[in-house]
Amino acid sequence: MKILAISGSLRNASKNTTLLRAAKLIAETPLEITIYEELDQIPPFNPDLDVEPAPAAVARFRAALNESSAVIFSTPEYAHGIPGSLKNLLDWVVGSGELSEKPVALIHASARGEYAQASLREVLKTMNANLLTDAETTLSLTTPFLDPAELASCSSGAPLLRAFLSKLKKSLPQPHC
Ligand SMILES: Cc1cc2nc3c(=O)[nH]c(=O)nc-3n(C[C@H](O)[C@H](O)[C@H](O)COP(=O)(O)O)c2cc1C
Repeated sequence: MKILAISGSLRNASKNTTLLRAAKLIAETPLEITIYEELDQIPPFNPDLDVEPAPAAVARFRAALNESSAVIFSTPEYAHGIPGSLKNLLDWVVGSGELSEKPVALIHASARGEYAQASLREVLKTMNANLLTDAETTLSLTTPFLDPAELASCSSGAPLLRAFLSKLKKSLPQPHC
């Protein structure tokens, strides 16, 4: 099962991206996590440009969503909202509908940021995504920088990540054969 993991942070040392990279390291078959790496290549959303052919990075994002059985988001909070770059990315698939009915799980790198979490849930609900609320998990990463491999093997983080992935797997529609 292909899972697309999207971080709302463009920072090199992002805790949210680290969390997703650690989840990728821990994930076991049948879960196969791909980290979305092109957030900084998405142009500002403009309905006039939302026509075929879509801008190349937008077309790649839509294809990546179509190829994925589920999506994981991990995002920082900026000024009590989700980062503009993440909202911009989501705006490109409002009309095209790739997130409609798509299973989506949120994982949080901070116990704070409840406004961004609520805002992301609202945006995803408006887009008719299938929010897997049972899988939603918070890991409070307090160290300034943590290597994904370190997080994937640390005694407090790794079990939470494993539990998140297990809940995600259980929440996903199972193949019939
Ligand atoms: C411009 C800016 C605005 C922020 N606003 C908030 C905020 O409103 N609430 C909050 O809890 N944290 C806020 N933060 C802190 C970030 O959400 C926090 O540092 C987060 O862990 C960064 O995620 P990252 O490590 O993945 O980049 C803000 C940070 C920046 C740079």
